[in-house]
Amino acid sequence: MTDLYYMRRALELAERGRGWTSPNPMVGAVLVREGRIIGQGWHVRCGELHAERHALKNCTESPKGATMYVTLEPCCHQGRQPPCTDAILEAGIARVVVGSGDPNPLVAGKGLDILRSHGVEVETGVLEEECRALNRVFFHYIQTKRPYVTMKYAMTLDGKIATRTGASQWITGEEARGQVHRDRHFHTGIMVGIGTVLADDPLLTCRMEGGKDPVRIICDTRLRTPLDSRIVRTAEEVLTVIATCCADPARRAPYEAAGCRGLVLPERGGHVDLTALMERLGQMGIDSVLLEGGGTLNWVALESGIVQRVQAYIAPKLFGGGTAKSPVEGLGVETPAQAVRLKNTTVTPVGEDFLLEGDVDTDVYRNR
Ligand SMILES: NC(=O)c1ccc[n+]([C@@H]2O[C@H](COP(=O)([O-])OP(=O)(O)OC[C@H]3O[C@@H](n4cnc5c(N)ncnc54)[C@H](OP(=O)(O)O)[C@@H]3O)[C@@H](O)[C@H]2O)c1
Ligand SMILES: [Zn+2]
Repeated sequence: MTDLYYMRRALELAERGRGWTSPNPMVGAVLVREGRIIGQGWHVRCGELHAERHALKNCTESPKGATMYVTLEPCCHQGRQPPCTDAILEAGIARVVVGSGDPNPLVAGKGLDILRSHGVEVETGVLEEECRALNRVFFHYIQTKRPYVTMKYAMTLDGKIATRTGASQWITGEEARGQVHRDRHFHTGIMVGIGTVLADDPLLTCRMEGGKDPVRIICDTRLRTPLDSRIVRTAEEVLTVIATCCADPARRAPYEAAGCRGLVLPERGGHVDLTALMERLGQMGIDSVLLEGGGTLNWVALESGIVQRVQAYIAPKLFGGGTAKSPVEGLGVETPAQAVRLKNTTVTPVGEDFLLEGDVDTDVYRNR
């Protein structure tokens, strides 16, 4: 078996931590000796063993002289867990194959230097792109201190998110809807505008078995969220943030009494300043946000440059209707050359629907 084979296995293991490791990265590790896998592990949850120690603990025989495949550079600093480089050296691992480097300034290259200086053979960059993509949230958050924002919506093939009467249940099939709940579990935060709260009275929770609810963030400039909305009524159970420009303590009090956390932010273009909001959410430890629209907030979010990724679920059906809503509204760009573009795009069939996703090409903002 090749290095690629074992790194692929380590990537599969890392995936198992998705949704649980935040704000830590997902990491997988495989130990191989004489062509046999003798130990496997992954970072199961923030606060628990790192993948390397988990794999060593699961070893079925002595790891002395073995090769360790690990998707991310081993850490060398004392965090909630002791450094993994110590465990690797103590175990007598002869060779370490690494997927991607760790951009965390406390680690960045130092982990590999320590291993090399103790005579461990180190190889890097095996399946690097896949390993980097796995932790795109972690890499973004640690470098910018702001959440990684994924704009997600479901639309018909003719670009509508509701019929002309506003009916939107359902656009996509059961499988796509199930995947969205899984995605809510994968994110630390979920964000909508007050327009969506007023129109749909959503709960924004994760209805996947064993999943966890993201922190709900409502962009509500003038504090119009109804006190009897389902979100406010469940704010004691599910963390809820109302991002507002209303600083009046008397108006904010009933929301706070209901369990909501108010964030008072500066105004920009007549609404809550999204850049300032991202900074505050980052300070609160929110590393990823699933932006579930509607069209007004989506447009401003794109225009402010806070969106890193777009996920569009496309249903092979057409609603028509000149007044039916579309996923991104606002003013829009003037010329096609000013379009927000995606790169690294993929299309995946999900039941009867398709998921088209990609990274926002942030270079485009320079042309505006
Ligand atoms: N199919 C889908 O995937 C999907 C997903 C979500 C929503 N929807 C549909 O979309 C419709 C609601 O759309 P919408 O555009 O009215 O709602 P929206 O985008 O959720 O909310 C818009 C409102 O958010 C407030 N807001 C606060 N800060 C903002 C900022 N920085 N930028 C922009 N807006 C900000 C604004 O009011 P203030 O400034 O006054 O606070 C604005 O009017 C509903 O019919 C819903 O069903 C569909
Ligand atoms: Zn570690």
